[in-house]
Amino acid sequence: MSKEHTPPKLNDIQAMERLKALPRPWASDYLAMYSNWLGGIVRDPWLMSVPIDDHLVHRGDGVFEATKCIDGRIYLLERHLERLEASASAIHLQPPLGCRELAELAAAVVRAGGQRDCMLRIFLSRGPGGFTTNPFECPAPGLYLMASRMHPMPEGAYEQGVNLGVSSVPAKSGFFAGVKSCNYLPNVLLKREAITRGWDFAVCLDPEGYLAEGSTENFGLVDQQGMLRLPPAMHILEGTTVKRAAELAGALVKAGELAGIERGDIKVEDLGAAKEVMLFGTTLDVLPVTRIDGAAVSGGAPGPVARELRRLIKQDIAENPAMSLAVWE
Ligand SMILES: Cc1ncc(COP(=O)(O)O)c(C=O)c1O
Repeated sequence: MSKEHTPPKLNDIQAMERLKALPRPWASDYLAMYSNWLGGIVRDPWLMSVPIDDHLVHRGDGVFEATKCIDGRIYLLERHLERLEASASAIHLQPPLGCRELAELAAAVVRAGGQRDCMLRIFLSRGPGGFTTNPFECPAPGLYLMASRMHPMPEGAYEQGVNLGVSSVPAKSGFFAGVKSCNYLPNVLLKREAITRGWDFAVCLDPEGYLAEGSTENFGLVDQQGMLRLPPAMHILEGTTVKRAAELAGALVKAGELAGIERGDIKVEDLGAAKEVMLFGTTLDVLPVTRIDGAAVSGGAPGPVARELRRLIKQDIAENPAMSLAVWE
């Protein structure tokens, strides 16, 4: 390496000065971070980091959850924490805190961030310990909670519906689809494909060629018989949103607005014949799909079931304290 390409050796003061001065305009979204490595909460984005020898960084050895806080209440936190525990157990990772303590910590991080509306992500990692794949070289798990500003979908997306593409990226299958691990490369490639092909979202196919899920969202449709059809749990991550939406959809079945709810294989051809196509997820709630690769589906307009399910979820967020954790009370 020539002299001009040899980086300087920095002392701690110089390194800190450089970290503070790094241009990171996106970091203005970062509100607060807890790290069990630091043993506290920090609010300066330049301090928000994870050790490079945490196996989360170099092996994706960890699990996570993304939750949202609306008007000072973290929606479906209990269910997210249950899924986190299930994901951790699937990869033989013992969380350092139980669900109750984690919920208290989540509330503390949101409070430290100071925003009543925000995203709260929880990362549970194998922890620092070296650079091999061996999980046993890590003495203790890492725990990182991050509160950041929320960027909801613009209202126009709900009014017009979005454009969905069927991806060529293979879905995670079976066990790996069901664990919300920090191995999101297939999901990243799915998102990338959506953006490069001009779709708003992409849905991938499971190993048998049936429609599975989006990059970070679940998928469903209403068929000509008025049945809400959702893919089976086999090759997808069970979303907290779609699960809650299916519970709330019981009211639509009772009212005769839906014939029923069914889990089963969905073919690509079923998309064109659907009365409605929709996506479910924490940041979206329920989002209508009105185009498949640019061609109109469902008459090219959002349908009543997606609209009603979104309304019911929003009502659940605003009026059902049993489903949220109050951060400020
Ligand atoms: C792969 C995948 N599927 C589905 C979802 C939707 O889950 P939830 O409704 O809990 O946000 C997510 C959420 O991030 C996801 O990552």
